[in-house]
Amino acid sequence: MSGLIPKHFIEDLITRVDLVELIGSRVPLKKHGKEYKGCCPFHGEKTPSFTVVPDKNFYHCFGCGEHGNALGFLMKHDNMGFVDAIEELADRIGVEVPREQTPGQRPPPSDALFATLEKAAGFYRSELMNTDRGKDYFKARGITGETALTFGLGYAPDAWDSVLKLLGGSDAERQRLLQTGMIIERDNRSGHYDRFRDRVMFPIRDARGRTIGFGGRVLDKGEPKYMNSPETELFHKGRELYGLYEARQASRTLTRLLIVEGYMDVVRLHQAGITYAVATLGTATTPEHLARVFRICNEVTFCFDGDRAGRAAAWKALENSLSQVREGRQIRFLFLPEGHDPDTLVGEEGREAFEARIKQALPLSEYFINQLSAQVDIRSIDGRAQLGALARPLLERIPAGIFRELLADEVAKTVGLKSGRLTSMLGEGAETKPATVEPARTPARPQVQAGRRNLVRQAISLLVHYPQIADKVVLNPALATLARPGIALLIDLIEELGRRPCANTGALLERWRDRPDVEHLAKLAAQECLVDAAGAARELVDAVQRLGEEAARLRTDFLLKKTDRTDAEKAELQGLLARKPPVDNGA
Ligand code: UTP
Ligand code: MN
Repeated sequence: MSGLIPKHFIEDLITRVDLVELIGSRVPLKKHGKEYKGCCPFHGEKTPSFTVVPDKNFYHCFGCGEHGNALGFLMKHDNMGFVDAIEELADRIGVEVPREQTPGQRPPPSDALFATLEKAAGFYRSELMNTDRGKDYFKARGITGETALTFGLGYAPDAWDSVLKLLGGSDAERQRLLQTGMIIERDNRSGHYDRFRDRVMFPIRDARGRTIGFGGRVLDKGEPKYMNSPETELFHKGRELYGLYEARQASRTLTRLLIVEGYMDVVRLHQAGITYAVATLGTATTPEHLARVFRICNEVTFCFDGDRAGRAAAWKALENSLSQVREGRQIRFLFLPEGHDPDTLVGEEGREAFEARIKQALPLSEYFINQLSAQVDIRSIDGRAQLGALARPLLERIPAGIFRELLADEVAKTVGLKSGRLTSMLGEGAETKPATVEPARTPARPQVQAGRRNLVRQAISLLVHYPQIADKVVLNPALATLARPGIALLIDLIEELGRRPCANTGALLERWRDRPDVEHLAKLAAQECLVDAAGAARELVDAVQRLGEEAARLRTDFLLKKTDRTDAEKAELQGLLARKPPVDNGA
């Protein structure tokens, strides 16, 4: 997707997102006054020094100095890219990420590609309606007209050029057909031909319901059985799930998803009333798939055919799931009887029986231990040691936390190790001791220095903690002439926040993301601020006023001593001398 994401939108997200909920879903947090504390996910520790400040939408760790806002957290903790992290936050709040178009710029080229695919989908749909071949096929497989409509099913006629002729009238149009994978260039480059011919068609849709690719199935025998759109600018197999859009349409509040293997499985389950089924597109489930799924719900069941291929696919899915395992997320595995897939089974036994199977699916932990135990002889010491060795690298893929500890304990029990022994062998973040209660020994926390000599720093710090108070300040024009470290940053902050206010620390740091001072500001944000917003406003006004007075005094002295004043300097000096003497309020 092209186009810049407007900065104000990003700031707004950071302001609105519930940081405690976001971080709390990944790191166990406990309320502690106005803040929340937990063990830092970025370094190993036993006493919680990781702090989330909801008012500021900002987190920091006194132990290792890690800090940032919601966006920074997702980027660091979940290893997300900038844009992905924004999309995740937007998803949580339930808003679309807007894209900016600079004036005069043409609409993003992807719009035309979406339009091309939509036209193709429409053509396939009408072909399904107007000819018997596709219709008979779906009928024979028990698909109703209503289901066909819900999924936008279609039929690609048996010809080399139907899409080409219909939608490839100009060079530009043919280019778009190529870019979306709808046509293929002939080997000798003397033209093109349709990719999908004589196949029933399953449009693959993105979260907004736009068609981004197709799957097409042969009607008789033929190879390949399913043909998918190639990877294109719009379509990435490792990310998309077939049926997710339809599942969300069927229920706005999805609480669980069932991940199956095939297009027909999804369609048939949906028709049977199991509308929360989705399928990967001929690939293994990727961590990216799961990250998407867990943004929507907390409960995922993988469903596999009972054959050898199904079992291999299940283990692969488990391996790819480990990085997504967290407290509060449920991952289970359902194995169907040999010779069945969800399509045939739900057709035979109906929704209730099938849902009963889902209920009984194996939890990830059980499947994990069963599989490992089956690979070794756990009656022998060697076998048990082997099991421990097999488990360790897998356990290490799970983010440190309670779930990992429980699973490690379970494995330890199976291999006859004392509970906790295996956890202690795991990598970063693992606790070596069982969770005995220790007196809280939070590292000494740096506090905001309020010394007179540090007025600039104090003012900046107050603004970082309470950016919303910037409008209380009146800037003395002489301030810019003051030779104190940080003065330019202070003026910059006051002016910028005066023009466009920021609601909290997280949003402020976002606006400063690409500026060189951002680290400095973040360090100040991590310090404790001892005053509330009203107190901070008073201190800030006072500090800036004192600095202004000091600047004016120094500037006056300087100009008075100067013998060759320019006209501008003369005028400036007059203005300075005419100012009211500073009120000495005894402070
Ligand atoms: P299966 O071969 O198990 O077929 O492929 P199926 O889903 O039961 O299909 P029906 O019931 O015969 O129509 C499972 C999934 O693997 C992918 C498709 O996504 C398919 O739905 N696949 C399969 C391909 O991408 N290409 C193929 O050639 C075969
Ligand atoms: Mn099938």
